[in-house]
Amino acid sequence: MLTSDSRDSVQVASANLIELDTVSRRYEVGAGVVTALDDVTLTIDAGEFGVVLGPSGSGKTTLLNLIGALDSPTSGTILIDGKRISESSRSELFRFRRETVSFIFQTFNLFPGLTALENVQFGVDVSGRRHEHDRARATLAEVGLGDRLHHFPQQLSGGEQQRVAIARALATGNPVMLADEPTGELDFRTGIQILELLHRQTHRGITVLIVTHNREIARVADRVIELSSGRVVADGPPDGGQVPIEELRW
Ligand SMILES: Nc1ncnc2c1ncn2[C@@H]1O[C@H](COP(=O)(O)OP(=O)(O)OP(=O)(O)O)[C@@H](O)[C@H]1O
Ligand SMILES: [Mg+2]
Repeated sequence: MLTSDSRDSVQVASANLIELDTVSRRYEVGAGVVTALDDVTLTIDAGEFGVVLGPSGSGKTTLLNLIGALDSPTSGTILIDGKRISESSRSELFRFRRETVSFIFQTFNLFPGLTALENVQFGVDVSGRRHEHDRARATLAEVGLGDRLHHFPQQLSGGEQQRVAIARALATGNPVMLADEPTGELDFRTGIQILELLHRQTHRGITVLIVTHNREIARVADRVIELSSGRVVADGPPDGGQVPIEELRW
């Protein structure tokens, strides 16, 4: 069973946290069929810092959405912490999304009418930990925004907005963090800060999966899952070995 009650660390019983077995996702479009994900089998361990790499249209977002139970496979099975999510009831799925995964998007997805603090408190509320509102403040301080609590998103820089989004994901206490092109809208220097922040979360046992089309970013991962036309074409440490984040240039 996944537990995510502690702010400092998460405990996960199984090493094979996420298991996909021959997972495909097809879409019927007009008279044809688009295969967004084609027969994908892979296992992700708790605490892994993984990158899903591939060109536009290769199936990266599809894969992330399936892992986050925002979408279901056309065939194959997905187990999260030993539980088959494709067979879960609606209420179990709701609980899973609320308590297990948190999403970070390229475009930050903050509520424009809520301050930084309120945006993060919203994350705490959604995860069913309303009584832990203090977490929001602490998490914003942790991402270096302790002095921006009452700023609205439009009063924050892109990097700051993304840090609020990360704080919102962190404040949920959920053990799996899924980030779809989290540095896509950021300049290089800010992107590095965001990668460092995400990487740091794996030290407390959080599993972080980052989607990117940028091969350079993939070099900092423990593991690179490379997609092409919906298939996994490579899976392992980055080509040439893992490099420290501060050595990145793009
Ligand atoms: N709802 C849908 N209906 C039909 N086809 C879809 C749908 N969603 C995705 N696809 C197709 O599936 C393929 C994979 O899409 P996906 O969004 O996973 O790619 P991606 O790797 O995330 O690309 P990008 O880097 O541009 O975000 C694409 O060819 C896309 O057109
Ligand atoms: Mg995408």
